[in-house]
Amino acid sequence: MSHFGQVARVPGDPILGLIDAYRSDSNPHKVDLGVGVYKDPQGNTPILRSVKIAERHLLESETTKSYIGGHGDPLFTQHLARLVFGADSSLLNANRAGATQTPGGTGALRLAGEFIHRCLPGRSIWLSDPTWPIHETLFAAAGLKVQHYPYVEADNRLVFDAMLAALQLIPHGDVVLLHACCHNPSGFDLNPQQWRQVLAVVRERNLLPLIDFAYQGFAEGLEADAWAVRLFAAELPDVLVTSSCSKNFGLYRERTGALLVSSATADKLVDVRSQLAAIARNLWSTPPAHGAAVVAQILADDSLQRLWQEEVEAMRMRIAELRQGLLTALQPYGLAERFAHIGQQRGMFSYTGLNPEQVKRLRDEHSIYMVGTGRANVAGMDSQHLDYLAAAIAKVSG
Ligand code: LMR
Repeated sequence: MSHFGQVARVPGDPILGLIDAYRSDSNPHKVDLGVGVYKDPQGNTPILRSVKIAERHLLESETTKSYIGGHGDPLFTQHLARLVFGADSSLLNANRAGATQTPGGTGALRLAGEFIHRCLPGRSIWLSDPTWPIHETLFAAAGLKVQHYPYVEADNRLVFDAMLAALQLIPHGDVVLLHACCHNPSGFDLNPQQWRQVLAVVRERNLLPLIDFAYQGFAEGLEADAWAVRLFAAELPDVLVTSSCSKNFGLYRERTGALLVSSATADKLVDVRSQLAAIARNLWSTPPAHGAAVVAQILADDSLQRLWQEEVEAMRMRIAELRQGLLTALQPYGLAERFAHIGQQRGMFSYTGLNPEQVKRLRDEHSIYMVGTGRANVAGMDSQHLDYLAAAIAKVSG
């Protein structure tokens, strides 16, 4: 009898599955607004110039392929921690915060989930509704009970009052996942005053914040986007932050990220980090080296870092322009007001407000691919396609 006879088929990934569907579509006008990758005006996802220079240098200077250790490349983790917590972070200066390198932001989330399950048993994790679909499955796979607080309602609006009211009912000690900026999938972010209100509830109920920081630099800029992370880390005894270099360094396939921890004391941080290294050993042993070495090269070199900052800023500005461009293209159809939220949302993604049936029609009739929930990757748009896109949106939403 076959061992695999009982293995059932599961549906394809809601986001990555779109890559194949798009690839096999022969329509020359096809548009890919699925998985969150940045595309340049030529429709390519380029390797950043700063990355290319760092890679060339590495090719010449790298002397070994030996393991890099449980917490990863020390130069990478030191520089990444400064990027997240700030160049003059008092937490880092006091050894109360540190980073553990992980395979991408997803690896950091899984490491955080496993850490909570193992070291803080019995705590639920609370996710925004909606959230990145992999948050749901990843934390459940790590053994956590997954619960939700409202974030965006069916009429495609951030419902901050309902969010705050729900946070006020979360049991003391539970974990709350917050998106630092560029909320995935909606693109709706909290303003500073709202962040302070959330902080007050988190403090009062002694919740543990896990802040997903996958898009640093894509909302308001590299420093401004870290504001809420730094506020929480400064005001609370313990914070977990997951950082990704996929988008802002364009290192998607190199799987480069980190789990950052800030802790009440330097001594306790050592305990926590010992657990993280032990858990990581059982997940991936040691993280992949290349992407982290590239990031370390860039952040350790002033001129390379400046070039990278300019490149991130150029991507950010272009995405903002594409948002406005789509609204302008929707104007002749009388739809600019109905879709005005696209101009207010930030980062790569937009919850367009299109329903699954409309998304299906966009795909079947116009070869425009987006996630079934109506999430569009604005960073995948192209100014030449905006009219085509607007006409198709007008047809399916008429
Ligand atoms: C996305 O949401 O499209 C990205 O974060 C890529 C991914 O891994 O899903």
